[in-house]
Amino acid sequence: TVGLNDAAKAAGKVYFGTATDTNEFGDYGYVTILNDTSIFGQFTPGNSLKWMYAEPEQGVFNFTGGDEVYAMAYETGKIMRGHNLVWYSELPTWVTDATWDATNLTTTIQSHVTGEVSHYTGKLYAWDVVNEPLNDNGTFRSDVFYDTLGSSYISIALNAARAADPNVKLYINEYNLEYSGPKIDAMVQLVKDLQAEGTPIDGIGFESHFILGEINAQEFQWNMQNITALGLEVAITELDDRIELPATAADLYQQQQEYQEIVGVCMAVEGCVGVTVWDYTDYYSWIPSTFAGYGAASPYNECLEKKPAYDGIAAAF
Ligand code: XIL
Repeated sequence: TVGLNDAAKAAGKVYFGTATDTNEFGDYGYVTILNDTSIFGQFTPGNSLKWMYAEPEQGVFNFTGGDEVYAMAYETGKIMRGHNLVWYSELPTWVTDATWDATNLTTTIQSHVTGEVSHYTGKLYAWDVVNEPLNDNGTFRSDVFYDTLGSSYISIALNAARAADPNVKLYINEYNLEYSGPKIDAMVQLVKDLQAEGTPIDGIGFESHFILGEINAQEFQWNMQNITALGLEVAITELDDRIELPATAADLYQQQQEYQEIVGVCMAVEGCVGVTVWDYTDYYSWIPSTFAGYGAASPYNECLEKKPAYDGIAAAF
């Protein structure tokens, strides 16, 4: 069978990749497949570069995990997406428990973004600079950043990232942009507002955490094209397709069709640069621990065997 990264590149895309992280690197069978660059041409560290791990104390950075993922990518000829810099979740307590005003939170965001981005200047393909800033109803998510600074925290972070690395692609990454409705409309408006004020923004990440039976490829394609029409690139950044357990053979066949349709959307949108699965195997997928009763969301099963979904992806590229 064809390797998915080879297939993606032959189809004119930049990469096919996967989330991974250091806690999985002791698993020989897993790493053997992970390191195969014909299958994966891109890594996203699933956790190591999040604020609580990368700056656990104010001004004290820890790049041990991120550097290990980067080294693994680099040694096997892969590119890496940095994930993520400013997000409401997985923050250290020194951020969540402090009382901030606009001035000291601005410098704190700038220091955090500068510290992380400058550590990897010239080394990464992209950064998810802001993660999940919107509610499903299209309003801005209430968190320490928005509550203190309004939506200006987004441009503060993007400008700091650009200053620290002139070439890395700067993304906003979000879920539930795959459907029509107020959330994608709000993201389109946010991009227009950022562009109007001269804030650097290069791409929008469509996380793409799908539920079996709930994909709408037509809406997904329209939404990607609404973003690329503004001159940005797009990517599928965290793909999985979860099934209510136990997954039947019919479910896995339907999942194959859905993976093919989803990757087919990236193929149909010229500005869609690549596809990343949110870990390639059901064994390390975040789904079962986050969505009770669901699983089997990834293209390899728990025994590291290819599922029908793998062939669905290969057929789309
Ligand atoms: C998830 C990781 O996979 C888990 O290991 C962690 O416990 C929680 O975060 N959206 C994102 C990712 O942008 O960072 C999340 O990753 C999944 C949802």
